[in-house]
Amino acid sequence: MIVCKSQAELEKMHHAGLILWEVLNELRGMVKPGVTTKDLDEYAERRTAELKARPAFKNYRGYPATLCTSINSEVVHGIPSRSRRLEEGDIISLDFGVEYDGYYADAAVTVPVGRITPELQKLLQVTRESLDQAIEKVRVGNRLSDISAAVQNWAERKNGYSVVRDLCGHGIGTHIHEEPNVLNYGEPGRGPRLQEGMVFAIEPMVNIGGPEVKVLDDDWTAVTTDGTKSAHFEHTVAVTANGPWILTRPREMQGPSW
Ligand code: MF3
Ligand code: CO
Repeated sequence: MIVCKSQAELEKMHHAGLILWEVLNELRGMVKPGVTTKDLDEYAERRTAELKARPAFKNYRGYPATLCTSINSEVVHGIPSRSRRLEEGDIISLDFGVEYDGYYADAAVTVPVGRITPELQKLLQVTRESLDQAIEKVRVGNRLSDISAAVQNWAERKNGYSVVRDLCGHGIGTHIHEEPNVLNYGEPGRGPRLQEGMVFAIEPMVNIGGPEVKVLDDDWTAVTTDGTKSAHFEHTVAVTANGPWILTRPREMQGPSW
């Protein structure tokens, strides 16, 4: 069952989302060669506490950190480490979840470290655009798979990349993961009709090479099987009578999602 949220509940999720957005933006500014992923994680944990919220991922199914930091061919769920230093030319996905007063928000952005190649700039742009096209489908009366098809259409059919099949987005609200699964591929026009108050964490994961991923021996880090680079963008988005409401950024912000 997909739980629909009231206006008051959406406001709480937006509160969590604004804290998340603020911290994630600060983290973006910290991304430079020489910084360790543990530095980013410690900063996120401290700022979340200062803002009176709670990191949503820490201890979730035993996950050991506040952030997921996934570099280059790491797709998602990279564990921050004191020994992992960012290098010029890397790309890093910063994935962050926040809980405030029992309500959750979830978002991610992939950031360049210093100067990156045009090939990687394009990967980041197309992945972010695939999220934007998916968000555009978050409207009353559309079907769930319209979101999925929008990602696949942009990333695969129009731009020749691969969308990861083994991982997906999700409903979100009083839990970080709720029904339904929000796939990043599929035919449009399938699945439940979208209704006011539904909220989805939409998170395209896009690889330059094939779609296959495997999980490393740390039991968390998902990497591309062929070693090609991968990008990941995510927002928490509500269905409203006025169209999509991105809960993980300020309400007045317009234009591209990230
Ligand atoms: N944004 C990711 C997700 O929705 C992060 C979860 S990581 C975990 O699945 F550690 F919390 F599992
Ligand atoms: Co998520």
